[in-house]
Amino acid sequence: MPRFFNRNTSNQHTMSIPFTKLTAEEAAALINDRDVIGFSAFTSTAAPKTIAKAIAARASAEHAAGRPFQITSITGASTGPSLDGALVAADAVFKRTPFQSDPVMRKGINDGKVQFVDMHLSRLAHAVRSGHFGKVNWAIIEVCDIDPDGSVVLTTSGGVTPTVVGEADKVLLELNRYHPTTLRGCHDIFEPDSPPHRKPFNILRPSDRIGEPVLRIPPAKIVGYVETNLPDEVGGFSAPSPLTLKIGNNVAEFLANEIKVGRIPPCFLPIQSGVGDTANAVLGAMGQHPDIPTFEMYSEVLQDSALALMKTGKIRFASTVALTITPESAKEVYGNLDYYRNRFVIRPQEISNNPEVVRRLGVLSMNTAIEADLFGNVNSTHFFGRTLMNGVGGSGDFTRSAWISIFTCPSTQKDGKISTIVPNVSHVDHVEHDVHIIVTEQGVADLRGKSPSERAREVIEKCAHPDYKDLLRKYVEIGKGAHTPNTLDKMFALHHAFQTQGDMRKAAL
Ligand code: COA
Repeated sequence: MPRFFNRNTSNQHTMSIPFTKLTAEEAAALINDRDVIGFSAFTSTAAPKTIAKAIAARASAEHAAGRPFQITSITGASTGPSLDGALVAADAVFKRTPFQSDPVMRKGINDGKVQFVDMHLSRLAHAVRSGHFGKVNWAIIEVCDIDPDGSVVLTTSGGVTPTVVGEADKVLLELNRYHPTTLRGCHDIFEPDSPPHRKPFNILRPSDRIGEPVLRIPPAKIVGYVETNLPDEVGGFSAPSPLTLKIGNNVAEFLANEIKVGRIPPCFLPIQSGVGDTANAVLGAMGQHPDIPTFEMYSEVLQDSALALMKTGKIRFASTVALTITPESAKEVYGNLDYYRNRFVIRPQEISNNPEVVRRLGVLSMNTAIEADLFGNVNSTHFFGRTLMNGVGGSGDFTRSAWISIFTCPSTQKDGKISTIVPNVSHVDHVEHDVHIIVTEQGVADLRGKSPSERAREVIEKCAHPDYKDLLRKYVEIGKGAHTPNTLDKMFALHHAFQTQGDMRKAAL
């Protein structure tokens, strides 16, 4: 059983708050052009929505008055429309890191208006401490409780919050009454010492705790707090489609067989599961597979699908950065916190995604690809080498260190005109040395112990869509007689065919 803290389990603030209460507009008026701001936020959870929107309004007013106003925005990962969307719509973001998934932000980045630094999430805290984004002027943090000594209870995410608070000159708090103060005890807040003094993190099981339930902020740094009452901006997920169900079943079948052949122990290993509809379908299939035992998660997001499995007991425990759950699921969790608080812990991403812990625990990583190539390189982030989708997120933190690293995707996109299995990926996020298994609705390619030519055969025969198999076989045939059967002037022939003729099947090899 994990340790947890039961202090103050009523949803009441027991003491008055000895910090200045501000309106969102007063808080936003404190921000200056070119300030570097660290926000709490991770996959639309825990974003300080009210202050962010007020900063966007301030930016618009400054621009209307002919004055420049842009900030550098650092968060744990993606955010919702009130933070990324509102700020970009107001042309208020100069630089953004480390991950995003908001359509307005995505457009700003792809139009070249926002400088985006796409990063492994586990590396962000180190980069912030090292000053790679400049001096952090402000930390703006959503909390659900504030103690007189400056300790705060975070809401639905740990993110990079301890680090931005530690590095910031000043802190603004957004006290969001939507989240109950009984979240106290659900977090494990820890920041490691810097090398050469860093010690091993004593996490031997996903439920082990190494830190504190609260984030301690020096009171002198806290400039004030703004009160609000708003749910996280987490959208719902689609029900699994026949396609995502097939992918999910293929993953579950593969994992069950790994237990059978002894490469995964009968007690199973902790899993990391990515975000999105395919990831939800994979978890759902694992939940239903009779040969997959109950399991734990050492992951960075806990979605609705995981909660459902917690309810049935299939998931025993989940270590996460964020509770990325819909408002309906939040009601379920907040209404039954006595049940759930022993079943999950919210950590900062520096710990949840730490490659050393991931490698030692033997985490099974499961992420989604945009495209994968014949040799096992995976693109998670870009279309046609140019256009950013979301970012690498935590997929690389887990993939390189995983016991078994798995990537899933449908074998085609855009009504079959795009094959996700290509001769070479148009952007590399995960290299052939790190990717073990590729799964599409067609089947499972096992790349372990195989040379590049063997991998190419495996990926074509097991994962490619039948419409593309001959084309891909021909590509390998043309390049044969080399360690890696590539041909420089044909490496992107399929991509080129889509761009010039609207269909990869028209590629001339
Ligand atoms: N070429 C062109 N378009 C493609 C494509 C490809 N190879 N692959 C996907 N797309 C398009 C889809 O057609 C779809 O377009 P639409 O919105 O116009 O319908 C869109 O991209 C999303 O595709 P979908 O299959 O629905 O993706 P998803 O929701 O399963 O997300 C990723 C897939 C890769 C974008 C997402 O998992 C991601 O951002 N991963 C990186 C971060 C990560 O892995 N984090 C994990 C740690 S939690």
